[in-house]
This record gives sequence, structure tokens and C-alpha cells, in this order.
Amino acid sequence: MSDKNIVKMDDIVSLAKRRGFIFQASEIYGGLAGFWDYGPLGVELANKLKAEWWKAVVTESDNVFGVDGAIIQNPKLWEASGHVAGFTDPMVEDTKNGKRYRADHLAGVDSTDLNELAELLKDKVSPDGNPLSKPRVFNMMMKTWIGPVEDDSAVAYLRPETAGSIFTNYENVRETMRAKLPFGVAQIGKAFRNEISPRDFIFRVRELEQMEMQYFIKESDENSTYESWRNFAWDFLTERLGISKDNLQWHEHEENERAHYAKAAHDIYFRFPQGFKELWGTHNRGDYDLSNHQRVSGKDLTYFEQASGERYLPHVIESSVGVGRIILAVLVDAYHEEEINGETRVVLKLKPELAPYKFAVSPLLKNKPELVEKAREVYRMLKKKHGNVMWDDNGNIGKRYRRQDEIGTPYCVVIDFDSLENNDVTIRDRDTTEQKRVKISEL
Ligand code: GAP
Repeated sequence: MSDKNIVKMDDIVSLAKRRGFIFQASEIYGGLAGFWDYGPLGVELANKLKAEWWKAVVTESDNVFGVDGAIIQNPKLWEASGHVAGFTDPMVEDTKNGKRYRADHLAGVDSTDLNELAELLKDKVSPDGNPLSKPRVFNMMMKTWIGPVEDDSAVAYLRPETAGSIFTNYENVRETMRAKLPFGVAQIGKAFRNEISPRDFIFRVRELEQMEMQYFIKESDENSTYESWRNFAWDFLTERLGISKDNLQWHEHEENERAHYAKAAHDIYFRFPQGFKELWGTHNRGDYDLSNHQRVSGKDLTYFEQASGERYLPHVIESSVGVGRIILAVLVDAYHEEEINGETRVVLKLKPELAPYKFAVSPLLKNKPELVEKAREVYRMLKKKHGNVMWDDNGNIGKRYRRQDEIGTPYCVVIDFDSLENNDVTIRDRDTTEQKRVKISEL
């Protein structure tokens, strides 16, 4: 990869803002760390990604069902799941100014072991040059109160992962869908984490959206199911989203890295501008969740297998990815700066299916009513056929092409005076910049 093609985070942040993908939340009030708003193009891209995932996981499958659970659940759910006690990150504090940091980030390791971190950080200072406190754990659950009295009995949590309500609805889904093991339950939705140091644009945020799927199985099927969901994640990224394999690698979690519920975990790492980092996790959660929910709720969650006459608690393989992380990966992977006729252009080489707009339609001149009328006709026709089509008559044609390249629009269609005679248009390809004459009826 040449230096020119090493993508910088600043370039992505600037493009995202300039073209309406992503804005800082409450920007006019100075923003809020760890929170972001999606603009008109960002929401289109996010919707397309989510629809593609839902199609691959739920619609095209025979035995994966969708749910959409509440963000706030009975707090007992998060006590049983171990999140209230164990959803923590290691933290250190600057002893002079009180600023807090992820201890593992400062130590430069993927570890939550407090002794190991204390050893690694013993001679280090904070980014402001001050002594550091000893590492300790910090709970990332976001709290709120339900009802009019803000006392301990009213405390509830914003969910830290969507998986919680999948486990508590396991029996409801099994019964209503008459499902037999193995089967899966999928969900797309918001989750909240009080991250100690949100950073790297939308990479680590406090309000995130997850796409998660829990596959309920017999324990003896755990290895093959784990492998097939690992393969699913890889194929989804490379084939369905077109992300380059050179930008992806596997990372197997060591024991001291794994979440409290996981007995095995493999992440797919992506080459983000700040380095290779976690994009998508596949976890073997064993019977950790169902056994805890069974114990705390007192409800029988065992499964009766008719063929063998056995009764057992299902085990779970989980596939989990953040929508924002995929969006960042897709933007970084698609971002290119290229030299064309002595000028540098920025182009997002998005898979056409993901591009916020498939076509941009322009009249060659915006002050010629006959061209505008013909262009409007083509615009309406394409919109009816393909959905998202942008009307773009601002600036000269060169400027319009640059603008559409930056947002990844695969085709620009221009209506000129010949179009009025011949019922054809010029169509320009984003990636090759080649232009062709095409009959309107063949567009
Ligand atoms: N249910 C399992 C679970 O939540 P996780 O590894 O904590 O596992 C799964 O998160 C995925 O959610 C990650 O691989 C990442 O894509 C995304 N994610 C997690 N924390 C995030 C954060 N603070 N900001 C953005 N995305 C995050």
C-alpha cells in the first residue's frame, strides 16, 4: 500500500462532516464525547448495511428469527447476566488533574489483569506527564431511574448489549415459532456503554448500535457452529460488503481478554487508521446466560429433544458487530485519493448496493428549461426504478462529478442538447471516469 493510500482518520472525519454522513452530537453546544449523529447520507448507508445484514441473517435463513427488545429491561436481567458486577474496564487516574484513562490502552496491551497492568504502568506517567493511580475496575453500565422517585429501588440500566433480551425471549421465540434446536434469534438495536475514553471518531462511542445473533445449540455442536459463524462474518464483510481481505485479520482472544460470559472468542480486526482493531466478534457463550437466567428467574429454560428423549440447557454461539464500526470500516476501505488529469480527486469506491445514491442526474445547464424538464423526467424515472437518486444541478459538471465521487455515487447521468433530439444521455462511471452515450430507455 503506497503512502498516498494510507487513510487518515482526519480525512474520514472531514469527508463525513462535509458530505453529510456523520455530525458531532449537539455540535452547536460543543458536542458530547462519545455521541454522534448520522446525517442524510450516513443514515442511508447505515440503513443499507443493516438491511443487508438482516437479509443475510434472518430473511435468507430458515431458522433465525428476529426480535426487537426494549432498551430498558428489568435490572435483574443485568444482575443475572453478570453485567452489573462484571462489565468493567481497567482504569487509571491522573493523580493531579483527575483525568481518567483505559489502563490497557496506556499500557499498550489487550489485557484486563490488574496486576499485569500495574506492573506495566509502574514507571509510566499520564499523557499530561503526571503520576498515575493504581489500576482499578470501572463499571460501564449506564444508569437511569424509572418512575417519579430517584432512589435505589428505581435504578435501571440502559442495555450494554442487545443480547440480553434475546436470552430472556429464548423460550417465547422457541414456543411461538415452534422452533427446534438449532435455531437463532437476531436483533439490531442501540446499546449504551459508559466508555472511560471514547475515541477515534465513531470507533469507540458511548451510544452504539449493534447487530447481534444468538444461535441456540446442543453443546456437542459448539465447535462446528462456532466455525460456521466465524466464516459467516468473514464472508459478509468481504463478499456482501466488498471489504478488501488485505484490510482484515483474525484475532483470537487470550483468556485474560475475554468477556466474563465467553469461553472462546475470535474477533475480525480491520485496518482502521489507528491500526488493526476489533470490528466483529464471534463468541462461544456456552450455557453461561441461560443457566444464570434460569437460576435467577426460577423459570425452566431447558430444552426437550424429542429424538433422543434428552433434556438439556442449550448452549449459545454469538455473532456480534457494531453498525458504526462497520460504517467506519466501509468508509476507510472505500476511501481513495487519485490523480486524474493532474488533479487529485477523492472517491469513495463503495459497492454500488451500499452507495447512499445510485445515480445523480443533472441538466448540463440549469438555466435552460428544456434541459431541466428532460432531466427531471429522467430523474423521476430512475427514482421509481432504483429508489435513491440525487438531483444535482449545482456548479459546473466537473464540480458535480467531484461531489458525487466523494459520496460514492456509482453513476452520473447528464442531459444535454443532444438528449432532446436523440433521447439519450451521457452516463459517467465513478471508478473508471469513462463516459458513454446511453438511450434513456436502456438506463
Ligand atoms: N454481545 C456481545 C458484545 O456486546 P462486544 O465485543 O462487547 O460483545 C460487540 O461488542 C461489537 O460491538 C464489537 O465487536 C464492536 O463492533 C461493537 N462495539 C462494542 N463496543 C463498542 C463501542 N464502545 N463503540 C462502538 N462499537 C462498539
